[in-house]
Amino acid sequence: MIFKKQFLVSLFLGAAGLLYPFSQTFSQTYGKNGMVVSDHYLASEAGIEILKKGGNAIDAAVATAFALAVTHPEAGNIGGGGFIVFMKSDGDVTTFDFREKAPLAASPTMFLDENGNIKDNSNHRGLLSVGVPGTVAGLYQAHQKYGKLSWKEVVDPAVKLAKKGFPMSWGLYRVALRMSDRDDSWDIMKNYFRGADGEIVTPGELWKQPALAKTLEEIKKHGRDGFYKGKVAEEIEAYMKSNGGIITQEDLAKYEAVERKPVSTKFKDFEIFSMPPPSSGGVALIEMMNLLEAADISSIEFNSTPYVHIVAEAMRRAFADRAEFLGDPDFNPEMPVNKLISKDFAKARFQNLDMNHASPSDPSKYGQLYGGDHTTHFSVTDKDGNAVSLTYTLENSYGVKMGSSKLGFIFNNEMGDFNPVPGVTTETGQIGSDPNLVAPEKRMLSSMTPTIVAKDGKPYLVIGSPGGRTIINTVFQTVLNVLVYDMRIDRAIEAMKIHHQWLPNQIVYEQNLLSPDTKAALEKMGHKLRPTTNLGVLMGITFDPELGTWVGASDSSSEDGAAKGY
Ligand code: GLY
Repeated sequence: MIFKKQFLVSLFLGAAGLLYPFSQTFSQTYGKNGMVVSDHYLASEAGIEILKKGGNAIDAAVATAFALAVTHPEAGNIGGGGFIVFMKSDGDVTTFDFREKAPLAASPTMFLDENGNIKDNSNHRGLLSVGVPGTVAGLYQAHQKYGKLSWKEVVDPAVKLAKKGFPMSWGLYRVALRMSDRDDSWDIMKNYFRGADGEIVTPGELWKQPALAKTLEEIKKHGRDGFYKGKVAEEIEAYMKSNGGIITQEDLAKYEAVERKPVSTKFKDFEIFSMPPPSSGGVALIEMMNLLEAADISSIEFNSTPYVHIVAEAMRRAFADRAEFLGDPDFNPEMPVNKLISKDFAKARFQNLDMNHASPSDPSKYGQLYGGDHTTHFSVTDKDGNAVSLTYTLENSYGVKMGSSKLGFIFNNEMGDFNPVPGVTTETGQIGSDPNLVAPEKRMLSSMTPTIVAKDGKPYLVIGSPGGRTIINTVFQTVLNVLVYDMRIDRAIEAMKIHHQWLPNQIVYEQNLLSPDTKAALEKMGHKLRPTTNLGVLMGITFDPELGTWVGASDSSSEDGAAKGY
């Protein structure tokens, strides 16, 4: 039956040709009046439509974020959290932190059995792994402060996409086949991709999400209260209670997003702005940029052996510092953020750099596994020169894969980003340091790195990526590619990337993009190498001063992603 439907749909698509917009790959899009680059072409279009109506970059970002919750549900969300970096047309930069929080009933040992081991992977599986969602509060706060259009106007495109449906893509269909019958505990996933006839919706058919449309209607009507109070909050509490979760209406009512000052540094003629803690992304990015400035990266050829070595050594040091020092700033007032992002610290940190040998990674201290890689980033600019860099997440792909079918959205499993076992750090990856232990109402440390680079006080590069801990490194290398190696944005996104995170002590590299000679030379220096298929799904915008226009590109590894300009 599925195949018959699929065959008919293929025939229709073949005939309709252009009606089905395949994602763009390895090319740039231009737009004088604005640009939206996201993981789904319809979400990018939703943002552009808002710009055309006279909305600014914040309005377009809110519309895009809600649209991604419908069209890219593996990471686009209302059940998770994230960060916004916002550069206003006057050059001022601010950020919004809407990272999830631990519920009031959480504790540092909540995931452990009587022997002190993690019980049944409970920091990643089941409803104990859900953090109090922050997305709706963050989008609402940013919009209240800086939006121009009404809240209803910016939420409306998502309501329509959920209610009227949109064409199922092959990428989504692949996931639908894999997930629909897999695991009994993944309650919401069973019917998630099915139409009214009970069949999985096939590529090209319209996929409608009536329950999600109703939840979005509540949010459209009542703003943040449509999610954190009233019907939706009542159903969240009821669902949690019946399925072993601990999030209550009190947790939801108490959740607040926070506006924070960005972290920043100067690099050549540029100023780099990124997300402060509870993200580790901005601090690590800036530390690495400062390290490479101290090592005169401009004199080193891209993709050469010294390049990979020095980039990996910067990553090793930044990730060690991340593990030792960073966590929720509201719980760690003594965090040495200013020291970590200072030029003097970078100079001192690279004093032991040996250009001929890999440094050790001391396993007696800290380190961490890659973490969830299903996050999504999008970049937005408008005609007045406002720019938004927004990354948000459910942690794993489709988060915890649980949620009330009455509400139609999936919860995050972000509690897995806390350090799970106090005091226990292992060579293969678990961290036990204090700054990121679980506590009621604490935010878990993130690697999301939404970033804006400015030149002469105006946005020059807007960039970010999903990828768990690899986010920090793929954003870092894309920034280097543009600022140091003068690559155009699509090439900067596609160029060879590596990842080193201190522990495990290895360079992960994109296979087929690093030459055999370089690999052999790196191994001789003492580096361990591991190939991977892809690092990062970057969504970027640059400004072309000659043409006076925005230039956008979406990573070719995003199946439905697109840059849309106007
Ligand atoms: N959940 C991935 C991150 O926040 O880094």
